[in-house]
Formats: sequence, structure tokens, C-alpha cells
Amino acid sequence: MRFVSVNELEPGMILARKIIDRRVNMLQKGVVLSAVNIERLKTNGYLGAYITDSISEDIEIEETISDKTMEDGIEAVANADIGSIIEVAKEMVEDISELKRISVDMLDLRSFDDYTYHHSVNVAIYAVAVATKMGLSEEKIQEIAVAALCHDLGKTRIDVAIINKKGRLDDDEFAEIRRHPQYSYDILYDNTMISSAVRQAVICHHENENGSGYPYGKESDEIPLAAKIIHAVDVYDALTSRRSYKEPYSPVDALEYIIGGQNILFDKNVVDVMRTVIPAYPPGMDVILSTGQRAVVCAHTTTAQRPVIRIYETGKEVDLSRDPDYSTVFIAASGMLLQVSTGVEELNENRGKSDKKKKVLVIDDSGISRGQTKAALENEYDVTALESGIACLNYIKAKGLPDLIIMDIDMPMMDGVTTIEKIHDNESADIKILFLTAIADRDTVIRCRKAGALDYILKPVNPIYLRERVAIALDKNLDR
Ligand SMILES: [Fe+2]
Ligand SMILES: [Fe+2]
Repeated sequence: MRFVSVNELEPGMILARKIIDRRVNMLQKGVVLSAVNIERLKTNGYLGAYITDSISEDIEIEETISDKTMEDGIEAVANADIGSIIEVAKEMVEDISELKRISVDMLDLRSFDDYTYHHSVNVAIYAVAVATKMGLSEEKIQEIAVAALCHDLGKTRIDVAIINKKGRLDDDEFAEIRRHPQYSYDILYDNTMISSAVRQAVICHHENENGSGYPYGKESDEIPLAAKIIHAVDVYDALTSRRSYKEPYSPVDALEYIIGGQNILFDKNVVDVMRTVIPAYPPGMDVILSTGQRAVVCAHTTTAQRPVIRIYETGKEVDLSRDPDYSTVFIAASGMLLQVSTGVEELNENRGKSDKKKKVLVIDDSGISRGQTKAALENEYDVTALESGIACLNYIKAKGLPDLIIMDIDMPMMDGVTTIEKIHDNESADIKILFLTAIADRDTVIRCRKAGALDYILKPVNPIYLRERVAIALDKNLDR
């Protein structure tokens, strides 16, 4: 079987996997798709479907959990039925413990309407896979499964208009979104079936390693392991899904983001294990090779970035990890909406572009680094790059404050933190600042935070991570 995006589905194609939807019109495995079916998938926001055809007949994708567990999970979360959630958690842990290889290969297919329920079940699948691979005790894994299924229950207390809002959130709306871990905790509070460990994992699922998360601002060792696992896989699932305000990242790009955030947002150990259980190129997914040829991923190899692929044009199967003829060929693009666009820039071209391009000022004394930052952002933003703190102060005096400043810390003459302090002295307005730093030692981090930094980004800059952090800083868009 292979994954075909909605825009490429054609009447007559045979469905290889059931589409699980909470409404009655579920499509069963084996159904021959009609034009009406395809239209309905499109209007409900599905990304695509798994189909079977001659080129993909022998591509097998192991289900991580059974369809029944998936359906029960979605139902239990939708009804906020804690008893059923605990039952489903058990089924899930069992399903995953029986896998031949712990790898979440199947993409979840969901409509816009069912997003939160599918999301919670997915987060539980990923979290249990990570916890199982880490070798945690069964009791601990079960606890993580329950916490993952419950992590966003509190969102039901938030106005759907905020959750589905297309543009950026205002400060009040953003503050309301950030209350959802507390709301989830409150929903579980009186329930005797829920342990305090589960409640702690739930309330801490947006805490970051460096203390920049919410609601408490806890850091590294203060955050329970269960919460660290749920946090990382939660962000991964949000990135790979389609929402009212963004298109999905491909698995490889979402993993890049998670890797970019290790030690800052996410626990490094958790990220390392995650990379072994979530494939960058899952079997059945389409890719475009650097030769321009289009291919489908057939199987894993020991090198995550170089799977076995089959080229559509010729039907030739190539193991990219071994074949000497293909040693210089790489995967140039992949994703659920491959034919529509091939890069994150294009996928997200509407983000941040809603009205006028936002102004971003980049200050960095290294020409190479300045150029990389500018190149990563200039498609979406109006970027000005300058080489020193003094130049930055002069620019602001002449042209006023930009929407965001990306500031290198370590610069001769005047360092980044001092520059920001000077801007604060002159301008009363609050400015959005992201710092760039090669080493994030404790003192530097504390100074950055005192200077009002939203975030800091480690050099060398990972372009996907940088773009997403800038989008979050300007649009407050992640996790709704
Ligand atoms: Fe959340
Ligand atoms: Fe979530």
C-alpha cells in the first residue's frame, strides 16, 4: 500500500486502510473510491488515503495499534470518559508491546473536525512507543498512555473560535490557550482512578527544558519524564498535522524541528529515542529524489535518512543506504502534500504573510551566519541584516522598531544582551527578541531572559527550527 494525497486520489483506486471518522460515513478497507468519496475527503480536510495498486502491492505497513483500539481511543477521548480512557491505554500498551519492530509507520488520517481526538490518541501512540523503547516499567508506560490521552482534555473548556482561529491570536486568546494544561488537570482532579503522577504529567506537558514553558516554568530535572515524553511527541504530532492555520510538515522536517529544539525545549534523551521510533521517511510515502525522479518509500534500512525506495517511472527498487550507483542521490522532498508544494516555505507561504510582510532585524557579526539566517527567513519576512549592536541602535533610531529582532549574543564591541538593554533604555515599547548563541551556558541564558528574550536558538542555525520559532514568536500559532 502507499499513501496518496487527496489531490491525486482518483475514482477507482482501492482503499488499503479504513478511514476512521466519528461520523457515520466511514470508508472501509477494500472500498473502490468514487468521485463523491474523494470530494468528501477533500472538503473534510483529509490529507489523503492509503491505497493499494500494482506498484505498491508488496509494501507492507505494520499497524501500530489496531483499528479497534484507535476507534475506542477516539471515542473515549471525545466523551472524556476516564474509565474508557484507562481501558484503551491498556489495549494500546499491549498492542505496542507486541510489535515486531517499534516504529510508528502509519500516518494518521483525520478530518479537521476530529483533530483533537485523533491528536490525543496519536500522542499516546508515540509516547507509548518511546516509553517502551526506553525500557520503562509496564506500570510507568501505562501511566504515560493515560496522561497522553488526557493531556488536552482541558481544551474542551476553551472557545472553539479561539482553537480554530485562522489568524494570529491576541494576547488574551493566547493566555486562554495556555490555561489548557491547568484545565486538563482540573478535569482529572477529583477522579480517584487517576494517580497524581498522571496529573503531574498532564499539567507539565508544555514545560520546556530551559524553563521557558508553562504553566510553571519548570526546568530539566523538575519536569517528570512522562511530561517530557508527551511534550516532544505532542509537538511532533501538531507539526505533522493540517490545521486551519497551517499546512502539515513532512515527518523528516518535523523531526528536524524537534532535533533543533533538543536541550532547549525538549529532553535530549527523549529526542534520541524518538528518532528511532518515528521514521523520517515512513514506508508508503512519496518522495522526490535529487535527480528529480519521483519514488515511493518501500522499507526501512538501518540509516533513517536513506530508506529503500521504488522509482515510479522505471519500477526500479533502490536501497539508498547501500546502492553505490545512488551514493550521491538524496531525497530532496517528501510529505503528505508533495504534489502541491515541495518545501516548508511553500507549505507555509500563507503564514506570516496574512497582511504586510513582518519586519525582522537580524544582528550578527558573522557574515556566514547572518546570510544563513536571512536566507532562511526572507521568503516570508522583510529581513534586514546588520553586523553590529551599534548598527542596530542606529537603524532603530532612524526607522523605528521591527516586529522581531534576532540577535547574536557573542559580538565584539557591544554584545547582543547589552545591545538589547540599550534598546530597552531608549524605547518603552516591548520588543520581541530571539537570541542566537553558540553555547547556552546558564549565565547567558539568565541574562537573555532578564533582557526579555522570548527564546534563544543555538548556532549553527537549523533553518526549519528557526522558521518555526519565528512563526511562533510572531503568530503564537503552535498547539491549538
Ligand atoms: Fe497541550
Ligand atoms: Fe496536544
